[in-house]
Amino acid sequence: MMNQLNDLDYGTPAKQSEKSVTLEIDGVSVEVAAGTSVMRAAVEAGINVPKLCATDSLEPFGSCRLCLVEIDGKKGYPASCTTPCEPGMKVKTQTSKLADIRRGVMELYISDHPLDCLTCPTNGNCELQDMAGVTGLREVRYGYEGDNHLKMKKDESNPYFTYDPSKCIVCNRCVRACEETQGTFALTIDGRGFESRVSAGQMDSFMESECVSCGACVQACPTATLTEKTVIMMGQAEHSKITTCAYCGVGCSFKAEMKGNEVVRMVPHKDGKANHGHSCVKGRFAWGYATHKDRITKPMIRSKITDPWREVSWDEALTYAASEFRRIQAKHGKDSIGGITSSRCTNEETYLVQKLVRAAFGNNNVDTCARVCHSPTGYGLKQTLGESAGTQTFDSVMKSDVIMVIGANPVAAHPVFASQMKRRLRQGAKLIVVDPRTTEMVKSPHVQADFHLKLRPGTNVALITALAHVILSEGLQKEDFVAERCDQKSYADWKEFVLRPDNSPEMMADVTGVPAEQLRGAARLFAAAGNGAIYYGLGVTEHAQGSTMVIGIANLAMATGNVGREGVGVNPLRGQNNVQGSCDMGSFPHELPGYRHVSDSTVRGEFEQAWGVTLSPEPGLRIPNMFDAAMDGSFMGLYCEGEDIVQSDPNTQHVTAALSNMECIVVQDLFLNETAKYAHVFLPGSSFLEKDGTFTNAERRISRVRKVMPAKAGLSDWEVTVALAKALGYDMPYTHPSEIMDEIAALTPTFHGVSYAKLEQAGSLQWPCNDAAPDGTPIMHIKEFVRGKGKFINTQYFATDEKVTLKFPLILTTGRILSQYNVGAQTRRTENVEWHSEDRLEIHPHDAEDRGIKDDDWVGIESRAGQTVLRATVTERVQPGVVYTTFHFPESGANVITTDNSDWATNCPEYKVTAVQVMPVSQPSTWQKQFSRFTEQQLKLLQGQSGHAAETAVSK
Ligand code: SF4
Ligand code: SF4
Ligand code: SF4
Ligand code: FES
Repeated sequence: MMNQLNDLDYGTPAKQSEKSVTLEIDGVSVEVAAGTSVMRAAVEAGINVPKLCATDSLEPFGSCRLCLVEIDGKKGYPASCTTPCEPGMKVKTQTSKLADIRRGVMELYISDHPLDCLTCPTNGNCELQDMAGVTGLREVRYGYEGDNHLKMKKDESNPYFTYDPSKCIVCNRCVRACEETQGTFALTIDGRGFESRVSAGQMDSFMESECVSCGACVQACPTATLTEKTVIMMGQAEHSKITTCAYCGVGCSFKAEMKGNEVVRMVPHKDGKANHGHSCVKGRFAWGYATHKDRITKPMIRSKITDPWREVSWDEALTYAASEFRRIQAKHGKDSIGGITSSRCTNEETYLVQKLVRAAFGNNNVDTCARVCHSPTGYGLKQTLGESAGTQTFDSVMKSDVIMVIGANPVAAHPVFASQMKRRLRQGAKLIVVDPRTTEMVKSPHVQADFHLKLRPGTNVALITALAHVILSEGLQKEDFVAERCDQKSYADWKEFVLRPDNSPEMMADVTGVPAEQLRGAARLFAAAGNGAIYYGLGVTEHAQGSTMVIGIANLAMATGNVGREGVGVNPLRGQNNVQGSCDMGSFPHELPGYRHVSDSTVRGEFEQAWGVTLSPEPGLRIPNMFDAAMDGSFMGLYCEGEDIVQSDPNTQHVTAALSNMECIVVQDLFLNETAKYAHVFLPGSSFLEKDGTFTNAERRISRVRKVMPAKAGLSDWEVTVALAKALGYDMPYTHPSEIMDEIAALTPTFHGVSYAKLEQAGSLQWPCNDAAPDGTPIMHIKEFVRGKGKFINTQYFATDEKVTLKFPLILTTGRILSQYNVGAQTRRTENVEWHSEDRLEIHPHDAEDRGIKDDDWVGIESRAGQTVLRATVTERVQPGVVYTTFHFPESGANVITTDNSDWATNCPEYKVTAVQVMPVSQPSTWQKQFSRFTEQQLKLLQGQSGHAAETAVSK
């Protein structure tokens, strides 16, 4: 019997067609979409045909011959998986002849298969075993003594799954999964006939091959050949719950398969609308951090950061935190404290933190980590289109004719969406990549960018305006669309501005470094190819002109008529799992939930009535302003939930100096992160497996997060905030996160139709979801823009203040890597470190040679803000004059060098442009030495030991 945890497998993918076909299978009349296979039609009619090489996530291959059927009027026994339905067909799936053939096929498979079912890890969840049962196999006439593969060596190189070739039936499902689902093409079948076996690359091990450990092959394998190590260790799961990945903004849906309260494996959910059953290494395998020994599960307090931590009860910790906050307010004023919400926490938790700040602290000093990533998206899209969010579904990319990817590397940061995008590219869509580096997006198996505009960091705005210049000067714009949908005056102004000779690609080539002809080619391709979609990431937003660039992207999309239908649109690729949600929930100091300004008295009145308090009409402090105010002594207390500002914010030394000045920092987190080392109260957080709630992904899709195990510290994050509010004398009487969502829905027009009951029914919902759109809104701005007429805004390019000089001649830019996630707090505590155990500095061979730097050498990187030391990787992925690093490891100090230059509109830091010098060195930087001393001391204090020498020198 199939394991009941498994979903029904239709054998071949669903077909979309307006035409339908009616046929008869085993006497049952079935109507299916034209192009549907006989196998799928049978399953839809409730008839299961035996199969091994077919599965509904992959195109049929027709190799196992187990699914043969008889069709009236057709000779022989066609394979039902590769035979499309025809009108009037009469199919038989069960005859004595078919049964004989199927038994014969199974006999051959089993004669070369170990008969160790009872001790096999997939016993009870193996399709080969099921098929032996279904076909009634009772004996194997060939015997088991012949040549077989029992002695073939297992490949256990991958930390998460094993490959046991003795169990392989060469069905090719893994190879096809790697090609069709993932798009990596890491696997092949080597050898012929009996000798043939699956191989990763040129007979490499999985770890040495191109494999990116997405797990698609493991998922597709019908036998125990490719099996998760956790399943081998723990056995098959007993029950499961659907939940949402807590890593990136793709928001993949997973089935958490459990044994008691322990996760056995995370299986990508077939019905997940963002991922359709696919996953990446992080969501699929890197969940072990949730039970890592570093988790802190007891509340702790201390009066000074040089004191040892003292474990206390929840009550004592919360009472202490509340009394400290009230003491600080009495001494320094109401506005002297604030809070930071987390884009990793749920919508409900984020909503509660901003409510606590506004209602219980009595000010608007709340901000979120979106400040340092996508705040310019919120600003730029609101100004031009009228809504601070992406316009499409991920599936929309399957209708795109040309895809422009700007300042994003989805292969590393949004891997499941990258696989979908690459599928579309393999079908023939064109690709334009705008990036200073040659990322995996530019060239990968069967995908090659038509244009790679390798611009200089910091010149995005010059480039986007030059693209518009070509389109307008060559008459490639969609005047009809603009006339009907956009504000005419703003369009006329913008047109005049863009057409100025200064904005031509020829004039801008010196600025951007992109040859004019290439830029012209890309502009023509984008404007003329039909459906043009723009996807962008932090390479757009994290600049001094981040908001201007977002506006430039929206201008381009409107001018080319690429908004308001499938296949087009403006699509910010959100970094963290709930960064969209944290912005929606009112995490910014000037906006209440739903992006409504705090100065709007009508909106404020609604919240005042619901919350029973008077709210401040004055915008509060942004994160960088909080640091400045801490330095001047006017901001003295902070509640920081699920965010590591010391590691993730720019100019680390400024941040730590500010934190060292504060009187009470309350950190709520899973681990003693870098910020917690400066804290006075530690409130243990809960992982996504330990709480109920919702996340909102980059498509505005709200999905349920479901509690699969009890909270390790006894309280889920939302309960901690409720308890802290109570300690502050403000009651938030919720008994379940669904009640928090009901309040959000009641107070936020774009969420009016959202409830847990509705999410249960629909699986997920894309906001706006209200009376006007009861089932949510997959594509935005269809008939008109949210703001009415789309508004063009001029995008004058200004060079950043961060200039290269003789002293700092290179530009440092930063980014992410596939196996690691953001500041690495989670992924560093998983086997993902096997792929990436340190941050490296990428440097071009010319720049390396000029400085006498070789691969693996230690190099010092110095900027106007500070110094750090990393090992070098000499590579042509970066252009001369540009160096690049990731920021996953705190000791790397990547943000010691980034400056506090920021976006003019939103203060989003200019992480992508820092002028630096790079030199060979032989020892860590002064900051790094202080960092290790400080960390060592803080770890001692964590163990309750005295911190006699616990200096805060690192912050000074
Ligand atoms: S490893 Fe699994 S999926 Fe791949 S060919 Fe062998 S049995 Fe089939
Ligand atoms: S884990 Fe993913 S990338 Fe690796 S071989 Fe399997 S399908 Fe390919
Ligand atoms: S693509 Fe993003 S959401 Fe999906 S599994 Fe990977 S990290 Fe999780
Ligand atoms: S399932 Fe159809 S040939 Fe294998």
